[in-house]
Amino acid sequence: MSMSGKFITLEGGEGAGKSTQIKALCAFLRGKNIEVVQTREVGGAPSAEAIRELWLTKGEGYWDAHSELLLIMAARREHLIKTIWPALERGAWVVSDRFVDSTRAYQGIGLGLGLDFVEHVYSLIADDFEPDLTLLLDLPVEAGLARMTSRGGQDDRYQQRDIAFHQKLREAYLALAGQDAHRFRIVDASGDAATVSTVIEDIMCKSFGL
Ligand code: TMP
Repeated sequence: MSMSGKFITLEGGEGAGKSTQIKALCAFLRGKNIEVVQTREVGGAPSAEAIRELWLTKGEGYWDAHSELLLIMAARREHLIKTIWPALERGAWVVSDRFVDSTRAYQGIGLGLGLDFVEHVYSLIADDFEPDLTLLLDLPVEAGLARMTSRGGQDDRYQQRDIAFHQKLREAYLALAGQDAHRFRIVDASGDAATVSTVIEDIMCKSFGL
């Protein structure tokens, strides 16, 4: 399978500003005449969105934690087969709000299922496929949660978890970024949206020679 496009993922805890930044990043890339597919996980294909609905709208304890991970991976397989890989093959750039690093951080480390379980299942559905670049939007947990509260809306089950969980999540992401430093870029997400966008655009230019 020859994939001439680039696969870029945005990761981070709650309130890091991924939704705002992904829109700005896609607009920036389109301004460079690149075909861009903006997508998200869990979801990104009709069948994967159906799994998201099954999974995220249910309360804590409805799904066994291992089953939950398998559901997320099933959605990821649908996303890869139906959206990501076809786009990369035709040369488009795919920008995804979350990907497997979310599973590593939330399920593998945060919920304690272990990275081995995540890696094992992931390698079965995706072999050694990884993003070309992962932007980790990092900010102190209190700042992220405060942003989320001021934004209002309905909390999903992870957003409702206590501060210790979110702290563990932040540390998990930073550890993953340290292990896979060749593809991770840590972005300080505590500034205003325009400042963060400029940092991301600079990373794009340097990483891909834009
Ligand atoms: P979102 O808020 O970015 O739409 O993500 C919804 C929730 O899904 C968020 O709390 C993180 C969680 N999630 C996981 O727990 N594992 C995963 O693999 C992914 C992709 C998301």
